[in-house]
Amino acid sequence: MTKTINQIRADFPILSREVNGKPLVYLDNGATTQKPQLVIDSISKYYENENSNIHRGVHTLSQEATDAYEQARVKIQQFLNAKHSHEIIFTSGTTGGINMISSSLRTSVKPSDEIIITAMEHHSNIVPWQMLCEETRAKLKVIPINQEGELLMDEYKKMISSNTKLVAFTHTSNSLGTINPTDEIIKIARKNGALVLVDGAQAVTHGKLDVQSMDCDFFVFSGHKLFGPTGTGILFGKEEILNSLPPYQGGGDMIKTVTFEKTTYNELPHKFEAGTPNIAGGIGLGVAIDYVQSVGFEFIEKQEKELLDYATQELLKIEDLRIIGEAKHKTCVISFVVDGIHPFDLGTIVDKMGVAVRTGHHCTQPLMDFFEIPGTTRASFSFYNTIEEIDVLVKALDRALGMLR
Ligand code: ALA
Repeated sequence: MTKTINQIRADFPILSREVNGKPLVYLDNGATTQKPQLVIDSISKYYENENSNIHRGVHTLSQEATDAYEQARVKIQQFLNAKHSHEIIFTSGTTGGINMISSSLRTSVKPSDEIIITAMEHHSNIVPWQMLCEETRAKLKVIPINQEGELLMDEYKKMISSNTKLVAFTHTSNSLGTINPTDEIIKIARKNGALVLVDGAQAVTHGKLDVQSMDCDFFVFSGHKLFGPTGTGILFGKEEILNSLPPYQGGGDMIKTVTFEKTTYNELPHKFEAGTPNIAGGIGLGVAIDYVQSVGFEFIEKQEKELLDYATQELLKIEDLRIIGEAKHKTCVISFVVDGIHPFDLGTIVDKMGVAVRTGHHCTQPLMDFFEIPGTTRASFSFYNTIEEIDVLVKALDRALGMLR
């Protein structure tokens, strides 16, 4: 039986709290999503009943913890439709996954190589590549965008060549909501023999993704943006490519044999998972994926489209409000500026009315420079948000602007 929106909201305990004496209206889902009770319970259940180190003990607790953690890996494999569960590497988040790859590529990138990113990347998909380019003297190239916040694909086609080592791009922009033409970007990269890394941090919550049909080499996302615990994330990598890369960190679990003369490395996925991981977090992420699938992407996509359309229509009624990011293909993220008003002031005042939005550059400073703004106010929605909450946002903005103008 499909749940009603009220039943869904009841699954998330935080949604019934008050902030500053007002019911919480949580519209900062791009930063992190809230956690259903099932995920919260799975973490305490793990510490109450199973807490033990994984892959190490013959004792029952260790085996139970290992089984639960490895089952979570299989759930994630199925969720992304990866071919093998050993192509799923647990990380600390999207940033962790990107740094893992940029670091592992250090030995294979040459000064004549080029890395292509886009103008709408989060700092976590800019800085690691800059660091890699500084170290290897490779060149970083950036696909420009238009005023709507869409990639200029002709420019991409012109800049890519047989020198392109890697194309690393965001599937969905955290600041603009733009959904990029992932299949086309990857097809062009393939023709030029480049590796492809897709930053899926903002994409995984909004629709079904399939790394095999996408044909990317690497796909990264954060568990906390998918209703799972913070400090969890996933790097998917194609088996043959992960096998060809050196490990990221050295330590326990990632080795096969160690002598003082030489160490041999473990099989995938362990080769990339040195040390004791966030076991409770990984298990919680598996539970979060079960939860998302029980709600279903059909419902999620329908609900989020209604929210995006209604919020866009209502926000545009506010005088002097300008939406930053008007791509034809976009997700339910609305960044906006109001002439003469600083986003920080707006965000602070609406918070007093219980409304949580993010303000600032959203870790995309070059993108803000392109639009010649210091930052935006950003409302980002999830399937548990309602039309009534958008009305509260609009009323709160009207009141705040009344005070600030
Ligand atoms: N990347 C997160 C955001 O967009 C933190 O808010």
